[in-house]
Amino acid sequence: HNINTLNSFGNVLIEPREGELASGLTGPGRMAEPEEIITFLEQHLKVQLPLYGKTALVTAGPTYEAIDPVRFIGNHSSGKMGFAIAERLSTLGAHVTLVTGPTSEKIKGVKRIDVVSAEEMLLACTSESANANIIVMSAAVADYTPISPANRKIKKDGNTLSLELKKTTDILSTLGTAKKTGQVLVGFALETHNEEEFAKAKLQNKNLDLIVLNSMQDKDAGFKVDTNKITIFNRKLERLTFEVKSKSAVAEDICNEIIKIIA
Ligand code: CTP
Repeated sequence: HNINTLNSFGNVLIEPREGELASGLTGPGRMAEPEEIITFLEQHLKVQLPLYGKTALVTAGPTYEAIDPVRFIGNHSSGKMGFAIAERLSTLGAHVTLVTGPTSEKIKGVKRIDVVSAEEMLLACTSESANANIIVMSAAVADYTPISPANRKIKKDGNTLSLELKKTTDILSTLGTAKKTGQVLVGFALETHNEEEFAKAKLQNKNLDLIVLNSMQDKDAGFKVDTNKITIFNRKLERLTFEVKSKSAVAEDICNEIIKIIA
């Protein structure tokens, strides 16, 4: 009767274990082991998280495109934004795979795949994206790569050096074309001019659900710093503006918009 009354108040019961009791009798009445209580609580709390049961793929960092065995074409991306998003999605209950270019950032509790070039990132993303409910492409992928990287170190010879580059595959566009019903695809845009116009065009051309526009105008936003300032556009081209915030708070804002679409 007491248990039924407690349950009727909305309490959740962790059953006692059976065994020898303090009274000398044997039966149900032993406290559950602390490990069992913790496991129960973790599971109980986890299933209530908004992204429990969802799978997410996040890309982060720069890519390095080899010129020769010792040199590459890269960019200033630190990976901080992508790592913050992966961490947040994981905290919200999603099963996260993080595909990252070279970075010193560290993360726990997600499946991490380290890649170097745009080509490697494409391969990892194509195989990981099939089962993903959420895809967030925050990596700064090289748009061009040397056509034929030298096998040996290029020696100084002459006053100029020309490198012939070819376009890399646009991973985000590829995933946008292959997008399945219910999949949420988020892209990033970093522009120096006509920011909003270009961002909205990318949202439509790449079949995205959200595009996150990074400001290049603010000194507290962008590469290497721990803060960022974003504007988000959704499919209806509604514009959401945010203040300068820590990258983890920015990740929270982006994930809140993802949750709204999933819900
Ligand atoms: N991106 C990608 N694969 C590439 C290049 C970019 O997946 N080879 C993704 C980035 O991760 C980002 C988005 O595309 O989410 C925006 O990248 P950006 O280079 O700014 O867009 P582009 O369409 O290449 O346009 P442009 O460089 O002309 O501005």
